[in-house]
Amino acid sequence: MKLLASFLSLACLLFRSAAAAPAPAWQFVEKGLSGIVGLEAIVVSPTLVVMFDRATNDPLHTPDGKVAWGSLWNLETNEVTALKLITDSFCASGSILSNGTMVSVGGNIPAAQDLNQTGALDGRMGLRLFGPCLDPNGKGEGCTIFEDLETLQLAETRWYTSTVRLFDGSLMVVGGIHESTPFYNTDPVNSFEFFPKKDGGVPRPSDFLARTVPVNLFPRVFALPDGTVFMLANNQTIIYDVETNTETPLPDLPNGQRVSNPFDGTAALLPLSPPLYEAEILACGGSTKSDQTPVEELSAQDPATDQCARLTLTPAGIAKGWVVEHMPQGRMMPEMILMPNGQVMIINGGLTGYAAVASIGVPFGNSNAANPIGTPVLYTPSAALGSRFSQKGLPTTDIPRMYHSTVTLTPQGNLLLAGNNPNGNVTFVPPGQPGVLFVRCEIHVFFLYSWHFREFRVQTLDPPFMQTARPTLTNVPSKIAFNERFTIDVNIPAGLSTSSIKVALMDLGFSTHAFHSSNRLVFMDFVLSANKRSLTITSPPNNRVYPPGPAYIFVTVGDSTSVGAHVMVGSGANPPVPDQGVPL
Ligand SMILES: *[C@@H]1O[C@H](CO)[C@@H](O)[C@H](O)[C@H]1NC(C)=O
Ligand SMILES: *[C@@H]1O[C@H](CO)[C@@H](O)[C@H](O)[C@H]1NC(C)=O
Ligand SMILES: *[C@@H]1O[C@H](CO)[C@@H](O)[C@H](O)[C@H]1NC(C)=O
Ligand SMILES: *[C@@H]1O[C@H](CO)[C@@H](O)[C@H](O)[C@H]1NC(C)=O
Repeated sequence: MKLLASFLSLACLLFRSAAAAPAPAWQFVEKGLSGIVGLEAIVVSPTLVVMFDRATNDPLHTPDGKVAWGSLWNLETNEVTALKLITDSFCASGSILSNGTMVSVGGNIPAAQDLNQTGALDGRMGLRLFGPCLDPNGKGEGCTIFEDLETLQLAETRWYTSTVRLFDGSLMVVGGIHESTPFYNTDPVNSFEFFPKKDGGVPRPSDFLARTVPVNLFPRVFALPDGTVFMLANNQTIIYDVETNTETPLPDLPNGQRVSNPFDGTAALLPLSPPLYEAEILACGGSTKSDQTPVEELSAQDPATDQCARLTLTPAGIAKGWVVEHMPQGRMMPEMILMPNGQVMIINGGLTGYAAVASIGVPFGNSNAANPIGTPVLYTPSAALGSRFSQKGLPTTDIPRMYHSTVTLTPQGNLLLAGNNPNGNVTFVPPGQPGVLFVRCEIHVFFLYSWHFREFRVQTLDPPFMQTARPTLTNVPSKIAFNERFTIDVNIPAGLSTSSIKVALMDLGFSTHAFHSSNRLVFMDFVLSANKRSLTITSPPNNRVYPPGPAYIFVTVGDSTSVGAHVMVGSGANPPVPDQGVPL
């Protein structure tokens, strides 16, 4: 075995040195170990990502010797530090408020066998606050998770709930399940609530959530540019008016496609552009299985759907209905990430099966899904129907990112990938099932491993421009108001075409369970100075087009995107904040 390994290592080395210096290309790069399974991830500063797992038996420990289930990943040093939490953040969601504080919402009851090593409390009504983290060194020193079980609690117990930041900078919390159940939503929380609380903290009942059980966990919810909220659960959609508490049904997803957990497809609000900021929703993957199928009849080998459906949320677009297109392959548990140039990266997931752990008739090991897909797909919204998907030039990774994995755009402009664990806790030995072995050529060493264990390896997916000179931004204001003109300095390397410039204002979103909530891209109008050294940019017209809170400004010149510059959009005041700017 050892001999074989050395032979293969040598072959690897020879192969690598024989290859010519490669042209800039997309590449996966391993960055180190996350210490916990990164099953939720959110960028919280230009250098830091918060990750959460369940309170279980992760190897990372807090300074007091307890097992950690929260961590801070440093994008500059690739180091991880433990965060001390009080409650179990398992299968929570989250977002950042108008004042820059990140809130982790909901969670689970910690497993009894793990209590001794974690000390975690019931997290189902959890509200965990972090930051804004102002450590000038960017290392997050002194930045902690704040929990107060007396004053900071949801009104209902919620596991698998969704969260989105609204036009007033507060969070809307949508649906979930009261108790742990293994697969379908059999104990639904058919209501909405808010943080900070509205209506004196009384949840609002929802017919939409009641209609969409049992496949309505982690509803896909989006704040629209007029302040209403689009929701997609199971195969049904509505627009919810927060201010009048009314639900307006929209057309079902066609052809039986269902996209919320446990039939996880995903959905995105496509980039918004001036002057009209017309909203379009893209829903991809998931399953076309009937939501009445008994769990015993489901198999990890059932094919996921390759369907994407796209709806324009104008009267004409709604009348036209969903437009259907097809990904190169079916995907269960994909995630969609808006890229600063307006493309959408469809990444992670597998060809077959469902979400959740060991809860269907024919699982694969403990996994309800199988056949991980290592190659992402780029979707170009502005291309002609039929030619929007491409895998050309995109690399393939053999690190599976299936259930309990995450991906997020970083301020550096690449994607950060973490997690994967279709098991109830962190398994250090194979669960005794047939394993699929991957062989991998990496710094002359071969690793053999089975994909359906826990995954601690962190990766980035780097765009080709990361190997070239990129535009740089300087003198970016730390705060911008709505409908405001401001000027930044830009350095554009020779060779980039200034005839194609895009200026994107982005919320990088929160990654959990095949959904990237609050992810948003608003393109901004701009004028490039005659000497091509500064951009005068017009911010979004009002707080409904971009819900007030932190953002990153990315400038794409030709094929190359700058590092994102952190800005606070709006006043940075605590929510709820009043309407600002000019109406559309
Ligand atoms: C709990 O942990 C302590 C050490 O931290 C150990 O001595 C004790 O045996 C553990 N109890 C159980 C029930 O695992
Ligand atoms: C959506 O699902 C429901 C219930 O599962 C079904 O009755 C309905 O026909 C589906 N809609 C479409 C357009 O397939
Ligand atoms: C992991 O979960 C299994 C049950 O799924 C349990 O038997 C085992 O004790 C757990 N291990 C740890 C370390 O918590
Ligand atoms: C942000 O607002 C929330 C909600 O009002 C509040 O709990 C939190 O303390 C605020 N953060 C800061 C840093 O003031």
